Order: sequence, then structure tokens, then C-alpha cells
Amino acid sequence: MSRRNRRLGVDPLRMTAPPIASFAVLPFFATAGCIARLGGRPVFADIDPLTYNIAPAGIEAAITPATKAILPVHLFGQMAEMDPILDIAQRHKLYVIEDAAQAIGAEYKGRRAGSLGHLGCFSDVCEHDT
Ligand SMILES: Cc1ncc(COP(=O)(O)O)c(C=O)c1O
Repeated sequence: MSRRNRRLGVDPLRMTAPPIASFAVLPFFATAGCIARLGGRPVFADIDPLTYNIAPAGIEAAITPATKAILPVHLFGQMAEMDPILDIAQRHKLYVIEDAAQAIGAEYKGRRAGSLGHLGCFSDVCEHDT
């Protein structure tokens, strides 16, 4: 297990996560399902009604002492507002895991989806609307 995964509390080889870990999150069910299957507790934050991406304004209310990470899901080829998300994560000492499955090649201020947080996740499902 890598040092980063150990700090995050997730063991990808054993597919485990500490049961108390919650992840302040995301507006997409597949991402939440992964957390739940690993024994974590996904916590949903409100969305931006225009993009359906996570709204930074609602994230802090969802953070508890058990929170490990913020998982913005970049939906429909649009990226979440990453600057405020990264700022919140830094202030609360949380990891940022980007779900970039629907945003391959999308950019936020000149940086590609999946490259702004601590981890970026992609999918090889070819029907994604990117
Ligand atoms: C935003 C998002 N995250 C995760 C997934 C899951 O990807 P995969 O099926 O490659 O595990 C999908 C699949 O549609 C997705 O749209």
C-alpha cells in the first residue's frame, strides 16, 4: 500500500477503508458506490444548479472530523470550481480526489481534469460524454 493510500486510509489491494471514514463529496452515484463498497461513508454536498457539479459553498457544512477527502466529480465535460475546493481541502487538511471519468481533456484555468487534486480517476468506458 502506498504512503498516500495509507494516509487516506484506503487499501486498494485489500479493498478496504476505515468504516468511520467519510468523504465529502460528489454528485454521482458510481463514485459514492465505490466509497461505500470500501467501507467508507459518502457524504453528499449540494450542487451548482447550472452545471450539476459540486458547489463549493456547500462543502464545509458536510465536513466532519471523520472526513478524509473531497471528491469533486467533473460532470458532462465540465470541471468543478477547483480553486475554492482546493482551498477548503488545504484549510481542513483533506485530500482532493477528482473523478474525471466524464471530463477527459477538460480544462480548468489551463490545467487538465484529474491533474489538480492529489488523485485523479478516469474511466475507459467509451460512451462518456467528453
Ligand atoms: C462520473 C463517473 N464516475 C465513475 C464512473 C464509473 O466508471 P467505470 O465504469 O469505468 O468504473 C462513471 C461511469 O459512467 C462516471 O460517469
